[in-house]
Amino acid sequence: MHPTVEATLEEAEATVAPREMIAILDYGSQYSRLIARRVRECRVYCELLPADTSLAELRRLGAKGVILSGGPDSVYDEGARRVDQAILESELPVLGICYGMQLLANQLGGRVEPQSGRREYGPAEIRVVTDTGTGADAATDTARRDGLFAGLGIAEGAGIPVWMSHGDSVGALPPGFTEVARSLSGALAAMADDRGRIGIQFHPEVSHTPQGRAMLENFLFGVCGCAPSWTSGAFIEEAVERIRRQVGEEGRVICGLSGGVDSAVAALLVHRAIGDRLICIFVDTGCMRAGEPEQVVETFRTHLRIPLVAVDARARFLGRLAGVTDPEQKRRIIGEEFVRVFEAEAERLREREPIGFLAQGTLYPDVIESTSHDANAAQKIKTHHNVGGLPEGMRFALVEPLRYVFKDEVREVGQALGLPEEWVWRHPFPGPGLAIRVIGEVTPERLDTLRQADAIVIEELRRAELYRQIGQAFAVLTPLQSVGVMGDGRTYASMVAVRAVTTGDFMTADWARLPHELLGRIANRIVNEVPGVNRVVYDITSKPPATIEWE
Ligand code: XMP
Repeated sequence: MHPTVEATLEEAEATVAPREMIAILDYGSQYSRLIARRVRECRVYCELLPADTSLAELRRLGAKGVILSGGPDSVYDEGARRVDQAILESELPVLGICYGMQLLANQLGGRVEPQSGRREYGPAEIRVVTDTGTGADAATDTARRDGLFAGLGIAEGAGIPVWMSHGDSVGALPPGFTEVARSLSGALAAMADDRGRIGIQFHPEVSHTPQGRAMLENFLFGVCGCAPSWTSGAFIEEAVERIRRQVGEEGRVICGLSGGVDSAVAALLVHRAIGDRLICIFVDTGCMRAGEPEQVVETFRTHLRIPLVAVDARARFLGRLAGVTDPEQKRRIIGEEFVRVFEAEAERLREREPIGFLAQGTLYPDVIESTSHDANAAQKIKTHHNVGGLPEGMRFALVEPLRYVFKDEVREVGQALGLPEEWVWRHPFPGPGLAIRVIGEVTPERLDTLRQADAIVIEELRRAELYRQIGQAFAVLTPLQSVGVMGDGRTYASMVAVRAVTTGDFMTADWARLPHELLGRIANRIVNEVPGVNRVVYDITSKPPATIEWE
């Protein structure tokens, strides 16, 4: 029997010694995840944890410091989230940001003054308090000199630009705390004691606080005593060790490759850990981009020398998609069919030798999403199918080496493991593939038209050296026909739409302001080179209200 997924993950966690880490307690701020990314950028490992995480849990995780995020609550709200008092009374350094600062004040005996009306965020300037006129004592000096603002090179009395959160504010300091900075409008902007507990009323994690990174570094390195040791090399070493322990000496793993960077990097890590006891499965759904199936096979088999089974399931998928125009139905069909093909292939491999594990490229944002206490059932916009996802009901233990890393870290690790540059930086591609970019019926001919147009968009974007600056770019084949003239003849042919967006997290996006000459070149090439297309339009809607994909 194979162990259950949960048991295996827990076992794997338990067998690895806690590493130096920073705990970020999440009080529901829109910036919580950004704080985590910033801390990782400082090369310190961190995890985003629920607001009510106990001191015992932090000890188990090996926390060297705690960051309390901002959040929408007011400390006086009924049911307002609090921090475990034991954490505040321990020796652990704490950085409270906005609501986190108010928690520090409220729970340590200071006073928070409620603000009437709506909360606002905005740019502001703060000044480090240099002389209160009362003759600062040694503790006060320490809090000011060695804390968040140390070594920032700020001239005496000069303003520091920050992104302020104007919510409730701290009206009276808790015992032992010192006023460290004030905003020009007079609000308390930073406080600290000499035990490494700091509260700030602004957001160091956003780019509108230019010295925010340096302040975070001061907290991580100066106050918490962390080392910048979270590097891709260290991560790879640890991940390989973890996989070896989980899979054991004999265990075998399969991994579904989607053509995307996450599943590829997961496979590379597993391969490094257990060599050819990993087998990759790649399912060609017939809905991939130009040259993609060949590239997956070539890169894995020839370049990386990783065993790969390629399944040509094009006829199967296209057969089931015939006549279907409804976007959700397309997604459902592809999702179901993928599970069937993958399952059949896995069973076939299992008949040869037992395979107990399935590797997946699950990333930290997915984990946060599914474990977040605040994850309220957001309205379903689209059914997302991750090709390479866990087929329901399959009896495999999961190997998820990327469970605690962010997308940019995956890219770095991929690069370190020898994944080709082009693959590392590839734009995301939806599981259902081109089927949801061919609007209307999905036929081999229409897919082929789209593939050619899409390849031109990507090629021109690369040529203009804009590919990396764009979050995602692609062509869409619309079901519209329009009249055109080519040579001396009238045409009545298809319209292709070009979509290019800039985005940080793909939850919101803006249309990319591509140079007109580039758009012109793309349109020109598509109508000249792709048979059956006589018109190209550019999509200038942002998300929301539109989504990135058209279906
Ligand atoms: P939307 O269209 O919802 O897309 O704005 C947001 C991001 O998700 C990708 N996407 C998918 N990814 N399976 C995936 O793995 C899917 O079914 C799927 N649908 C959309 C989309 O390409 C964009 O990056």
